[in-house]
Amino acid sequence: MSKQFDVVVIGGGPGGYIAAIRAAQLGFQVACIDEWKNAAGGPAPGGTCTNVGCIPSKALLQSSEHFEHANHHFEEHGITAKDVKMDVAKMIARKDNVVKQNNDGILYLFKKNKVTFFHGRGSFAGKAEGGYTINVAGKTEEAITAKQVIIATGSNARALPGTPFDEVNVLSNDGALRVGAVPKKLALIGSGVIGLEMGSVWRRLGAEVTILEGLPTFLGAVDEQIAKEAKKAFDKQGLKIELGVKVGEIVNGKKGVTVNYTNAKGEAVVLDADKLIVSIGRVPNTIGLNPEAIGLQLDERGAIVVDGDCKTNVPGVWAVGDVVRGPMLAHKAEEEGVAVAERIAGQHGHVNFNTIPWVIYTSPEIAWVGRTEQQLKEQGVAYKAGTFPFLANGRARALGDTTGMVKFLADATTDEILGVHMVGPQVSELISEAVVAMEFKASAEDIARICHAHPSLSEATKEAALAVDKRTLNF
Ligand code: FAD
Ligand code: NAI
Repeated sequence: MSKQFDVVVIGGGPGGYIAAIRAAQLGFQVACIDEWKNAAGGPAPGGTCTNVGCIPSKALLQSSEHFEHANHHFEEHGITAKDVKMDVAKMIARKDNVVKQNNDGILYLFKKNKVTFFHGRGSFAGKAEGGYTINVAGKTEEAITAKQVIIATGSNARALPGTPFDEVNVLSNDGALRVGAVPKKLALIGSGVIGLEMGSVWRRLGAEVTILEGLPTFLGAVDEQIAKEAKKAFDKQGLKIELGVKVGEIVNGKKGVTVNYTNAKGEAVVLDADKLIVSIGRVPNTIGLNPEAIGLQLDERGAIVVDGDCKTNVPGVWAVGDVVRGPMLAHKAEEEGVAVAERIAGQHGHVNFNTIPWVIYTSPEIAWVGRTEQQLKEQGVAYKAGTFPFLANGRARALGDTTGMVKFLADATTDEILGVHMVGPQVSELISEAVVAMEFKASAEDIARICHAHPSLSEATKEAALAVDKRTLNF
């Protein structure tokens, strides 16, 4: 007889493994199936985020930032660092070790929470009495049954038509995170989140980086004032970003890649590069899931169709994370995973899409929550804005990093915070205060009246809130 579970989660990324743990905490018999393999062919749960996404990219961003500091910023502190070298192989090995610690951590958490882990590919075989049969194909094959199924199969990098990823010259996020030596010339297509983060890593290590972006505006989803400030900083660093280009033929040759494109002025340009990273978005992944076996509905993009509660069209089958609508973010996937487990238990799991923060881990970092100024204008919402520059923040001066600002947008009548936008040092951490504030429907005045430690970067948040009412104290 096949093994029976109350809840089976297909996919062990942040959406899936967190859903499995929460369901187990709620008293269900839970299994999680994940097919990701490490270099030795063993299990590597954690999905894109842990293996080729959030975690490894932040490890490389950290290493490359140390290198940049040693080369360019130590001197101003009176530190002489001569002959600074980067051992790329060691940096990549450290990154791999950070990934492994996270993989192992998840396997430990499964044990701790009594989640049964299957290493292999899960695919729907069909309906079973009171649920569904799922085939698991790993080293061995077996069928298991589940009363409730949570699909968390994630997403894959989108390739340019006619230019497949070979992960040698033409790289997706996967290859971009394991380049063996610093390329002399690096081209990237797409100046979105991956383009900026990976472009920053390799520029800091000495590559000549050119990012080609199809849209005429830089970071269109980001508040315009913040995007402008960030662009200024990237230009100064020598990160070349060309907007409004039309990418033409790409030739993947023996010595590298040639990208033919038309620039914003309509001129034909030929760009030779040692490596090309294509970062033009991601596509939902249902490869091998066999959704047809249970009549699961997908949309035209290949995403699993779900309602606001992550219910699919098939009773007892749910889907979360990158494989469904909404932002492709690890924390969004996690929140949906928790909410679905709680709904299965008859509770009222909830995800507030209005307070999901975004962070781009470049230097300066970019972070935001809520609506941008351009969105408020489009929606005809009357608002007040307040900004405070890090230039006027004592801690930022002591850190030697005064780029950027904090910006508050509040309702003109009620003063409720509608959006908070940041560019500058460590704003990936500062944004949490804004998320909490918005979740509690705080006003700008609430933040302005809260005592913030001195000297801290968070004082810029308080001052920006004060600026909404035109009463900054330090600017
Ligand atoms: P995934 O993490 O993709 O996990 C899906 C898992 O399911 C995988 O392990 C896959 O092998 C497995 N799977 C698929 N099909 C099957 C099957 N049939 N059977 C068994 N297993 C299956 N987000 C952030 O919030 N912050 C960041 O800093 C960040 N950085 C990123 C950097 C990069 C370079 C990339 C590419 C992404 C980044 N993201 C970041 C996005 C984040 O990685 C995703 O939003 C997140 O991983 C989605 O989680 P998920 O659980 O939906 O899917
Ligand atoms: P993205 O959607 O962030 O950016 C893609 C960019 O490519 C856009 O600016 C788009 O206009 C451009 N583009 C698309 N087609 C093009 C073409 N043919 N020619 C030129 N430009 C083109 O996607 P990206 O960077 O691939 O990342 C995928 C997702 O992964 C992100 O949207 C995000 O959800 C997630 N991610 C999150 C991170 C974080 O939270 N820090 C870090 C990295 C990825």
